[in-house]
Amino acid sequence: MRSAIIVFALVHLAAAGCSGPKIGTMTGYDNTDGHDDKHPGSLMEYDHTTPAFWANVNAVSIYDRDWSQWKYHNIIINYKGKNVTVQSWDACTNADCPEDPQCCTHNAQKFAKPGFLVDVEKRVLKSAFNITNYNDVMNKITIYLCDAFDHQAVANKYHLSN
Ligand SMILES: *[C@@H]1O[C@H](CO)[C@@H](O)[C@H](O)[C@H]1NC(C)=O
Ligand SMILES: *[C@@H]1O[C@H](CO)[C@@H](O)[C@H](O)[C@H]1NC(C)=O
Repeated sequence: MRSAIIVFALVHLAAAGCSGPKIGTMTGYDNTDGHDDKHPGSLMEYDHTTPAFWANVNAVSIYDRDWSQWKYHNIIINYKGKNVTVQSWDACTNADCPEDPQCCTHNAQKFAKPGFLVDVEKRVLKSAFNITNYNDVMNKITIYLCDAFDHQAVANKYHLSN
């Protein structure tokens, strides 16, 4: 009986496929604005994002320090008691910071070290969290890092190019 319970617990953990919780930072940006995103309309490896893509995919940007390990993963953001699953498609690079030359590092480490940055596009902020003032967002969040997803299939569905 006891071993059956342990096996069940292990299967349950593997199925969830998430690690955490960890403390992170949520910020906001506009993917269409060249002032806010040095490569407007583009993600790390795909170009030509469309309204349909942003309406259906909770794409976010993460700190480029974390990109090689956590690119194209599902990430659960817990904010104000609500879980929302987002997907890492893009990266925040200090070289692209407009004012603070260390913006990605500083934002990632705002509430914890090493911290974890989730920079959320304005349309996802609105649909997922009902937040409209994306420029003012600098919020403490709890995150869970989960499984990888098939980015090529999603890119094909929304006709992104690379
Ligand atoms: C959020 O997701 C995590 C990871 O799956 C889970 O442990 C937690 O209970 C969830 N919280 C809520 C409020 O659903
Ligand atoms: C979204 O935010 C607006 C403005 O703060 C508020 O009036 C509205 O009720 C909110 N909608 C939901 C679904 O929470």
